[in-house]
Amino acid sequence: MTLYKTKVCCVIGDPIEHTLSPLIHNKAFENLGLDFVYVAFRVNREMLGKAIDGIRAFNIHGINITIPHKVRVLEYLDVVNDLVRNIGAVNTIVNEEGRLIGYNTDGDGALRALVKGGVSLSGKKVVVLGAGGAARAIVYFVAKEKPSSIMILNRTREKADELAENVSTKTGMLARAKKLANQSLKYEMQDADLVINCTSVGMAPNIGETPLPKSLLRKDIVVMDIIYNPLETRLLKEAKEAGAITISGVEMFVHQAASAFEIWTGNKAPVDLMKQITIEALEGELK
Ligand SMILES: NC(=O)c1ccc[n+]([C@@H]2O[C@H](COP(=O)([O-])OP(=O)(O)OC[C@H]3O[C@@H](n4cnc5c(N)ncnc54)[C@H](OP(=O)(O)O)[C@@H]3O)[C@@H](O)[C@H]2O)c1
Repeated sequence: MTLYKTKVCCVIGDPIEHTLSPLIHNKAFENLGLDFVYVAFRVNREMLGKAIDGIRAFNIHGINITIPHKVRVLEYLDVVNDLVRNIGAVNTIVNEEGRLIGYNTDGDGALRALVKGGVSLSGKKVVVLGAGGAARAIVYFVAKEKPSSIMILNRTREKADELAENVSTKTGMLARAKKLANQSLKYEMQDADLVINCTSVGMAPNIGETPLPKSLLRKDIVVMDIIYNPLETRLLKEAKEAGAITISGVEMFVHQAASAFEIWTGNKAPVDLMKQITIEALEGELK
């Protein structure tokens, strides 16, 4: 290996100690024999601008952006396409000869997870629970697939309204919004084809919680939960019991990482290996 040619990738965020990204990307680089290395940097809010200067100065090739920088990093980038600008958040950057190009692979990862699960969105009614950062990215990617309708349900109604209005204006695909409540869930789930949980309800340590009562789950729907810790949320467990097709958050996590890997390396990502590493790490088998 010619070390001076090594391409460096990193993730910047705060906190960063529990990130799985260095583990899965380094294993994937190794698996393909690529001369790349991935490290994690804790960067607080005040240091973001300096960190981006550092990325340019050290010619760091690929960057993942996580909490709390996904939105503010946009102002430091050279190229951002319309879709990413509409989403308003970036989680992946590639440095092409000093030009920083921003991407959002969260939405792409969710879509790839659905495709892998054999789910087509065309002509389907999609119910999205939540209107936070992940929901924003996912709703824009879902809208591109021409579902028959999109319904966004969120605890804070105003955020759902704003997201629905923005998506409708920017994509031409009508998205509607309501407050997340038992009544709206009951009504909207009657004819839903796919429900995607983008809230943090059910995430560890609150694993006994679920955003959707079991009584509203049926066998002819697809239930995707983007939470990946625990590996099987209460929502997914109950959806399986109801006979529904389920897609776990690990699939999205792995596919958003695979999408970033492909942007940086130009190689097809070893998705199955990345998934295996992720599951082992989440089960506590890898330290
Ligand atoms: N699989 C993956 O690759 C992946 C990627 C990104 C995120 N995630 C997971 O997705 C989840 C959301 O992440 P995010 O970045 O979008 O977070 P976020 O921006 O903080 O949004 C959180 C969402 O959850 C809702 N929520 C929180 N507590 C709630 C409660 N008790 N009842 C009802 N709704 C509640 C919020 O509603 P309000 O607007 O009312 O506050 C908001 O819609 C997290 O669990 C995260 O780990 C997974």
